[in-house]
Amino acid sequence: MDVLWTDHGEDRRSAGEMRMTMKMPISIRQESPRGHSAIKAINDLAFKQVNEGLLIEKLRGTPDFIPGLSLVAEFEQGVIGHILFYPVKIADHGKKFITLALGPMCVHPDHQRKGVGTKLVHEGLKRAKGLGYRSVIVVEHPEYYPRFGFKEASRFEIRAPFEVPDNAFCAIELVRGELKNKSGVVEYPQPYLDAV
Ligand SMILES: CC(C)(COP(=O)(O)OP(=O)(O)OC[C@H]1O[C@@H](n2cnc3c(N)ncnc32)[C@H](O)[C@@H]1OP(=O)(O)O)[C@@H](O)C(=O)NCCC(=O)NCCS
Repeated sequence: MDVLWTDHGEDRRSAGEMRMTMKMPISIRQESPRGHSAIKAINDLAFKQVNEGLLIEKLRGTPDFIPGLSLVAEFEQGVIGHILFYPVKIADHGKKFITLALGPMCVHPDHQRKGVGTKLVHEGLKRAKGLGYRSVIVVEHPEYYPRFGFKEASRFEIRAPFEVPDNAFCAIELVRGELKNKSGVVEYPQPYLDAV
């Protein structure tokens, strides 16, 4: 039996039934308080550790957290994926500007490689732009994020405050040219740094 987490608890289904649900449309929506435990559960499963779920819980408790940019992918009221965008500053010679950090994001292992992550990224970037954000940065998975238009952040002279391979620290402009004349080091809030 597989487990589908819902806002109301666990929903146990057979693998066959779970595959059937993949034919159903996936909806992307803002997280709701009742879905917090589901988000933690699928992060723990997808990452095979508790760090990312705990990170999300810590960030949710900060004033900068944006509920509208913590999105879940759901089928039949079951949460199968999650993506978070969190505002961070980039400091350049005393000047600071805001960007969004993408992550953590995850898809339930039973539903990976079926396009759920792609939907979450596309919808997240769209909503971020709609809320007035102009760029997004992301760490890790150099083979995944470029398909959405992310490029090495070094091209924009944006650097991480920790060691990371060049191709695993990327950025995307939501507004063309936004990063053109900007540069600097990203200032992550402590919960992110603790999770690195
Ligand atoms: C990374 C992740 C979110 C992708 O979600 P997904 O729904 O499986 O991805 P999609 O179905 O939209 O995209 C599938 C494509 O991404 C690729 N892909 C999936 N995970 C990948 C990874 N870790 N690195 C590189 N490519 C990856 C697949 O090869 C596939 O490529 P293809 O379309 O050329 O066949 C999901 O695999 C996951 O939860 N992984 C564990 C947690 C994690 O690493 N999160 C990201 C870091 S914050």
